[in-house]
Amino acid sequence: MKKWVVTNWKMNGSKSLLNEYRNTFKNSKNLIVCPPSIYLDEATDFLRCAQNIHQEPKGAFTGEISAQMLADMNIEYCLVGHSERRQYFFETNEIIRAKAESCLNNSITPIICIGETFEQYQAGKTIEVLQKQLNECASEGNFWIAYEPIWAIGKGCTPTNIEISTVHAYLREKLPNTTLLYGGSVNEDNAQPIFSTPNIDGVLVGGASLNMRAIERIYQVATTLRN
Ligand code: PGA
Repeated sequence: MKKWVVTNWKMNGSKSLLNEYRNTFKNSKNLIVCPPSIYLDEATDFLRCAQNIHQEPKGAFTGEISAQMLADMNIEYCLVGHSERRQYFFETNEIIRAKAESCLNNSITPIICIGETFEQYQAGKTIEVLQKQLNECASEGNFWIAYEPIWAIGKGCTPTNIEISTVHAYLREKLPNTTLLYGGSVNEDNAQPIFSTPNIDGVLVGGASLNMRAIERIYQVATTLRN
């Protein structure tokens, strides 16, 4: 089964990073790049993913882009509900659902991000939180889910493999045919055990996607485990 590597550059990167990706990942079939939107049109060598959209198709929303525009540019995927969008831009489950639906209406695959805070994790509420997020953010359609514990994002720590495996078993039971990603401090050292965890179809990589050595290694692991 194909293992996906989805690279979330966040508000980082440059034309030169895109060139390095081009040189390193020629003809890749399982790599998806999510550069800042201004670079999407330059990234046509790859499967492309926007980091965000506005839920409306068009209108007076200065600075925003829509799913309709992504479709116009033949972009395949869009992250929806990343925890940084929830935290810094006050996106609610309701807004996230509207964004996911807008993607689906335009034949863009939304990658819906869900995950618990450290307090919720410590209180043993992970599954409860994920269940609520899934119920409120995801509707019918061909979406992907990225499980990203908020406390693991950019922190250099991850849940244990058993914890990741428990969450993904729960997600798989609820969503048998959905592509399931894990995200949160994936790096070249933990990629192998994470990819080997049952029910994980790929990873969503933030910080390590900006480091060519690290992302190349993660990609190699994904490609080796592919069959
Ligand atoms: P990280 O980010 O890999 O830097 O933890 C992941 C993400 O935010 O998608």
